[in-house]
Amino acid sequence: MIDVKKIREDFPMYKENLKMQGHPLVFLDNAATTFKPEPVLKAVESYYYHTSNSHRGDYDLAYDVDVQVLETRKAVKRFINAKSENEIVFTAGASMSLNLVAYGYGAKYLKEGDEILLTEAEHASNILPWFKVAEMTGAVIKYIPLTKEGRLTAENVKKTIGSRTKLVCVAHITNVLGYVNDIKEIAKVAHEAGALISVDGAQSVPHIKVDVQDLDIDFLSFSGHKMCGPTGIGILYGKYQLLDMMDPFLSGGGMNAKFEMCGNVSYLKPPAKFEAGTQNLEGIYGLRAAIEYLEKIGMENIEKYEKELKIYAVNELKKLDNVIVYNPESESGIITFNVKGVFAQDEATFLNSKGIAVRSGQHCAKILNDFLGTVATVRASVYFYTSKEDIDELINVLKSGGDFLDAYFA
Ligand code: ALA
Repeated sequence: MIDVKKIREDFPMYKENLKMQGHPLVFLDNAATTFKPEPVLKAVESYYYHTSNSHRGDYDLAYDVDVQVLETRKAVKRFINAKSENEIVFTAGASMSLNLVAYGYGAKYLKEGDEILLTEAEHASNILPWFKVAEMTGAVIKYIPLTKEGRLTAENVKKTIGSRTKLVCVAHITNVLGYVNDIKEIAKVAHEAGALISVDGAQSVPHIKVDVQDLDIDFLSFSGHKMCGPTGIGILYGKYQLLDMMDPFLSGGGMNAKFEMCGNVSYLKPPAKFEAGTQNLEGIYGLRAAIEYLEKIGMENIEKYEKELKIYAVNELKKLDNVIVYNPESESGIITFNVKGVFAQDEATFLNSKGIAVRSGQHCAKILNDFLGTVATVRASVYFYTSKEDIDELINVLKSGGDFLDAYFA
């Protein structure tokens, strides 16, 4: 059971009763980033009260930091049910993780004519690295058709996949339409065709239970800051034998076993092989606290609560004649809409003038707008600390959505 009032006591951003434009803040941009609870702030701070580098010092203080880093790796392993903590690579965020798959695996193993399957609904970070890899290797990008609602189905993956397909790279939950893709089925189709599946979990791992073994995911990328953790820390999960085959994306200290003047280098085993340079240690401390916090609330509770809130919001939005909702049937807490006759950015500015934070524009998924037949949309996205009253406030303000010019001239 989610008790929003009680949960908000853990979040300084709520405890301080922040205002925006003189109105109590209604934060509905949780797909972009999330608030941080007190235990995460404390964990980040604790690193600076006990600072040392990791995996470099032969003294107790450094050993303590090594232990904390290992504990975070174990927490991530538990959270996504990986087989081993050695399958958990620290990165700067989901974008870096997705790039690591493209450059570390794709650039090394793809050949001319091999195929990479994407969809039009992917975030830029799951498309642009593949453009580059296609250019480098001669591999070909193919787009899996979406249904007319914008959904990805295993059926359409089956129709698009071929004997030259090497990788299927899709989001678990897309960041604009918010559909929860059937990754288990899609992974099965990919594997039957001899391809790997790389999943962008940026919008799923914070909101639903993700079990990499059950879904049989080869690579999973996600960010800490979208799940109550710090910015600048993310995870690439990879099946160990795949990580072992890959090249590092960054070289430097902490990832090599030995190098010689002639250029011979031997790398450490994963995950260290991918973690050149001093890691984001405060981020690693904070990520563990975030995971433990989410586990305490329960991922099943979070998923159920957000789903109910989404249904409530969509039902209320449907009562407004001036609003078009693009994803009424999607299962996650992402609601994408426009107010008729109002440009999305103008609407977001208007909502800001009433204290409501939403995202507007193309949401880094620029090719999806052609599919939706619009240049931009407004996106409201919830988390487990979003209240029904937040949704009511959004609905109230949208009722006067046509008066958006007030935002400029008030
Ligand atoms: N990727 C984040 C979003 O969709 C920033 O808003």
